Amino acid sequence: MDFIDLGRQYELIKDKVETGIKNVVETRHFIMGPEITELESRLAEFTGRKYCLTCGSGTEALQIPLMAFKLKKTDAVFVPAFTFFASAESVNLAGGTPVFVDVDTKFNMSIDSLKKEIERVLSEGKLTPRGIIPVDLFGRSANYDQIIPVAEEYGMFVLEDAAQGFGGNLRGKRNGSFGDVSATSFFPAKPLGCYGDGGAIFTDDEELYNTMKSIRVHGCGSDKYDNVRIGMNGRLDTIQAAVLLAKLDIFEDELEARQRVASWYSRELSNVFVVPEVDDDYYSAWAQYSLLAKDEEERTRIVNGMKEKNIPIMIYYPIPLHKQTAYVNLGYGDISLPHCESISKRVFSIPMHPYLTEEEVVAICDALKSVV
Ligand SMILES: Cc1ncc(COP(=O)(O)O)c(C=O)c1O
Repeated sequence: MDFIDLGRQYELIKDKVETGIKNVVETRHFIMGPEITELESRLAEFTGRKYCLTCGSGTEALQIPLMAFKLKKTDAVFVPAFTFFASAESVNLAGGTPVFVDVDTKFNMSIDSLKKEIERVLSEGKLTPRGIIPVDLFGRSANYDQIIPVAEEYGMFVLEDAAQGFGGNLRGKRNGSFGDVSATSFFPAKPLGCYGDGGAIFTDDEELYNTMKSIRVHGCGSDKYDNVRIGMNGRLDTIQAAVLLAKLDIFEDELEARQRVASWYSRELSNVFVVPEVDDDYYSAWAQYSLLAKDEEERTRIVNGMKEKNIPIMIYYPIPLHKQTAYVNLGYGDISLPHCESISKRVFSIPMHPYLTEEEVVAICDALKSVV
């Protein structure tokens, strides 16, 4: 069994993908071909944002807006410590300083911890609060109802990390449309993934869009050999855009299928685990279906027991960011974020993709219950 079965999806879209790739090869528009423009306009429409810029990865999708914000070393950007490394790494890459925040019971940024960290930064007086990067972890929108007012109160930007949340929404407002600017990833395992690396940025701000567009291609000005700022090579390949256009056609159906898979899991597991909360406001993209073991020992038993039954279990994330060697070396090692530290020892994710059948879900849950 695969953790994410991209083979079953390929069977459905094979013809469109192959025609799309063949067309790029035959027309030889490998760089910024018409598929890029078409994809950007369809993605902007999908999220409800005015502008979309595709780019080479989710990491670049975070880094490009942060470069546009001209971060200084003394600028603090608040990031949850329970996420993929790139959510914080992008802040360092753009020249700023990440400040780690604890998460809540939904695995997303905790408002109490956010406010506490902002006040701590202000009282220490070394850094200036500049921005917040809420992460739509495992597919569920972060708590924008509370995060955006905090950002407004302190005059900070909000950069939504929708790498895992793309396709989800909060009361119908789609992930990718929150805050000043949003970033997503098309890494193959993401809810909307391509066949390599890819990403996209969304905003309603025309000036920011134009700056980011310039950064995406070496800080270009009026033409590509006029360089007006430091940028990068951050383009998405046209071939990946052709793949994404084919996948976008079935994306809504896949999102609905993910809701069904998640509800089967919750039905089967709610008497053994605290299952992820589903409420009317939040439509998750279900990038992962994640659970918490009682303790680290039970998690090890689950991982090993399921491996014996050939059912893959993944651990997102075993080490919170402030405990990663890179950040310990930058002096973050003594920070204490108790919830991140506790859940990173207990969290585990079970197979999740739109093509799981009810029988497979029941079999996975029976195996899990027998191991526990
Ligand atoms: C929350 C989050 N942010 C950022 C990224 C970075 O995306 P990419 O791998 O496309 O650079 C990922 C990808 O795993 C992610 O899960």
